[in-house]
Amino acid sequence: MATEPQTAGSEQLERELAELLAVERFEPPREFREQALLKDPAIYAEAERDPLGFWSAQAEQLHWFRRWDRVLDDSDPPFYKWFTGGTINASYNCLDRHVEAGRGDRVAFHWRGEEGEERDITYAQLLADVQRLANALKALGIGKGDVVGIYVPMIPEVVVSMLACARIGAPHNVVFGGFSAEAVRERMEFSQAKALITVDGAARKGKTAPVKERVDEVMGDLETLEAIVVIRSKGTPCSMREGRDVYYDEIVAAADPDCPAEPLDAEHPLYILYTSGSTAKPKGILHTTGGYLTGVAATHRYVFDLKPDADTYWCAADVGWVTGHSYIVYGPLCNGATSVMWEGAPDYPDRGIWWALVERYGVSILYCAPTAIRACVKWGAEWPRRHDLSSLRLLGTVGEPINPKAWLWYHKVIGGGRCPIVDTWWQTETGAIMITPLPGITATKPGSATQPFPGVRAEVRDESTGQPMQEGQGLLVLTRPWPSMLRTLYREEERFVETYFARFGPETYLVGDAARVDKDGYVWVIGRIDDVVNVSGHRLSTAEVESAIVAHADVAEAAVIGQHDEDTGQAIVAFVTLQGELEGDDSVVEGIRATVAERIGKFARPKRIIWTDDLPKTRSGKIMRRLLRDIAEGRELGDVTTLRDPAVTAKLKERVAELQAAEG
Ligand code: PRX
Repeated sequence: MATEPQTAGSEQLERELAELLAVERFEPPREFREQALLKDPAIYAEAERDPLGFWSAQAEQLHWFRRWDRVLDDSDPPFYKWFTGGTINASYNCLDRHVEAGRGDRVAFHWRGEEGEERDITYAQLLADVQRLANALKALGIGKGDVVGIYVPMIPEVVVSMLACARIGAPHNVVFGGFSAEAVRERMEFSQAKALITVDGAARKGKTAPVKERVDEVMGDLETLEAIVVIRSKGTPCSMREGRDVYYDEIVAAADPDCPAEPLDAEHPLYILYTSGSTAKPKGILHTTGGYLTGVAATHRYVFDLKPDADTYWCAADVGWVTGHSYIVYGPLCNGATSVMWEGAPDYPDRGIWWALVERYGVSILYCAPTAIRACVKWGAEWPRRHDLSSLRLLGTVGEPINPKAWLWYHKVIGGGRCPIVDTWWQTETGAIMITPLPGITATKPGSATQPFPGVRAEVRDESTGQPMQEGQGLLVLTRPWPSMLRTLYREEERFVETYFARFGPETYLVGDAARVDKDGYVWVIGRIDDVVNVSGHRLSTAEVESAIVAHADVAEAAVIGQHDEDTGQAIVAFVTLQGELEGDDSVVEGIRATVAERIGKFARPKRIIWTDDLPKTRSGKIMRRLLRDIAEGRELGDVTTLRDPAVTAKLKERVAELQAAEG
């Protein structure tokens, strides 16, 4: 039987990992450093001396139709403008530039479908497809400034759609495929989208989800939406509404093949991406063109030490999140990279699929979320060990803090001990990586994102005094504008200022994360300070989930918190009060979970629901989530004297203890 050698192997691995836990710093391996694009730490001091000079040198690596007059216009903070007077086009930088330089035959994406289908898409093919779709969109009446929604899974057409929008200056609004149609509708409504590009159906671990049908159920009455473009991806039957719905393949076939890229102002909106904030209403993060491309191209090149002629790069995120926008689409394509694009989940057809893909395409740079690494740790080292992973030379993580054990496992089992790990901290708002090691320079410490990227300035501020801290825990802030920063919240300018700049003034961006800075100046990001939770790297607001839960007819009131979870980083726990005398049972639990799936998406369903007759509230009626978090984590409760009814917490504590005992 195979169990014995495996057990022996895993014991040895455990021993090795335990030994590595004692290592405080990992220096860049000599071989890596010698070959690295950046190996001289002087880059930090140079960028610090002249940040605008540093960023303009990065911008010069892009193609501009017209060069900028001014690098930064900071006359009206926090409304910063970058590369003013310059004109540029994102799709030109991602495609035409490479084709014109004779690199059209280079593969942009090795696409792999769930059932093993393969498509290699070259830069020249992408350019041809993008031009046709851009013309087809124009024929539908889409022009500069019109918002186009994109609700498409991980198939090559999603990239074509984004770049076709960019080509004609129509800001895209991509919605992650895991969001429900209801959530798509809401995002189309907030952004007043004029068109939506979607698919007939999407692959879901061997099944097909009917996407267009779901979209139709909710989209009917949205007046601003003039056209729905349907990609025939899986052959799933769907109905088409006369005068509104068209098939992607038909409009593309009918379109003219030439569509020159439109020269756009550097500050022309490139996209809106909705993300969760403290309230139930998602925030429309607005990114513009010149500064954003400068930020993503520079960070992609230097953080991943990209050698486009030699590397095969794989960012295993979904294109529907900012990681996909910046590090599947815009950064890698600007840099002429060859990437892998995988349609499916990490455990379908089996738990070894990622490693099979690394071997198949010779992936040299892998970028993924800690939650995926933790899942792999759980599934066991035997899955990756079945494959040849020797092509890997650099590993990255993003989205949440990585616990040292997962870091070391990644280092040892996946990286064979030879690959530097870049733990990259950033946000939808920052557009590009902000705090990160440079792999040929920085000594890493497992669990720390280390130091700000050159030109970026971050501080940890004391929560009570607001003063910068040399060492200790406080609020993370960014104290200097950077080119890829969000420009505003779409159609909510006041909320933009209020959310990020009310606390420390218009020149200091409040991140919303708590962080610790150590004696060496290394930054350790701890987690959110607001009511945002991070489930498997998916950002959600507790208010958003609460409002979905109370939409269930039996629910009177709900309070949601994020609880620490070994697998998903945080898990959603909901405290729920039912209407009148109703009693909670399994069918209500399932009903509530289904309501959340319908309103937001399956990934937002609460892991645990705790029934309660009342919630701990202040005398003015505000729910005290801090106490709920303490109760759920089994911590001592601090001061409860401000509560309207202190008995509520005692009952809840009992209830949670009972549940925990029952769950074993
Ligand atoms: O809390 C931080 C966490 O993810 C938040 C941003 O989420 P989102 O806008 O969805 O973007 C995720 C991908 C860029 C941050 O406020 N976060 C992101 N990266 C890290 C992280 N926390 C710790 N370490 C990281 N490397």
